[in-house]
Amino acid sequence: MTLHIIRNGEKSVYTVAETDGTLLQVLNEIKTTQDASLSFASGCRSSVCGSCAVRVNGKEVLACAYKPQSGDVVEPLKNVPLIRDLVVDMEKALSFNKVAKSWAVSPEILPAVTPDAAEINEVQSDCILCGACYSACPVYAVNSEFIGPFALTRNWRYVSDVREDDVAGKIAAVQTNGIWDCTLCGECVPVCPQGIAPKSDIDMLRNKSNVLGYMDPKYASFGGGLDFGAPSF
Ligand code: SF4
Ligand code: SF4
Ligand code: FES
Repeated sequence: MTLHIIRNGEKSVYTVAETDGTLLQVLNEIKTTQDASLSFASGCRSSVCGSCAVRVNGKEVLACAYKPQSGDVVEPLKNVPLIRDLVVDMEKALSFNKVAKSWAVSPEILPAVTPDAAEINEVQSDCILCGACYSACPVYAVNSEFIGPFALTRNWRYVSDVREDDVAGKIAAVQTNGIWDCTLCGECVPVCPQGIAPKSDIDMLRNKSNVLGYMDPKYASFGGGLDFGAPSF
């Protein structure tokens, strides 16, 4: 089996025995038997930590879950700075969780959570911050400050939580470089190893924003110069 690995922009070709193992196992084999300088990230080896995401033939996958085929082209994630070979710097991408205020603000007295209410954001809670959706998102070609799919999904996870005490603050946090900059292309959906659909969560955030008095800035000028005023909560 032949594997093409894009290392710092150059293609390296490795030949390994056919295997039913994962891409991560093959990368480990190459590193231990052929090329100790090959760099890649990994942790749990069981699709939990999110550290091993790469692109294969242009699609984002977890190396510890993907079964490689001969001829595969393996590359680092897009939209993030390259450190070396398949290792990328996720610092800026992860900082968008802070921009999106993606954490819980709890009231003094917590309301009871019914099973139905708990189910609303069960899937979003499973995000492993692998960055696959961030890499697949085309918006970064034109806006490097876009808050991005996983931080917006995380924002919706808290906005939709019946225990959240600062929904208005969280919605306000994603108006600039956030929900209205998404093209709803859906590229972030099929690459998510956790079955999360950031596009749908962004759509929900748009609906919630409309309810709270915000509107898509692209359409704000259609009011013939009318002043829609500040959002009212
Ligand atoms: S749906 Fe939005 S967040 Fe997802 S990839 Fe497309 S532009 Fe990016
Ligand atoms: S939403 Fe999915 S693809 Fe995006 S970071 Fe979370 S687990 Fe990874
Ligand atoms: S090594 Fe942890 S998700 Fe792949």
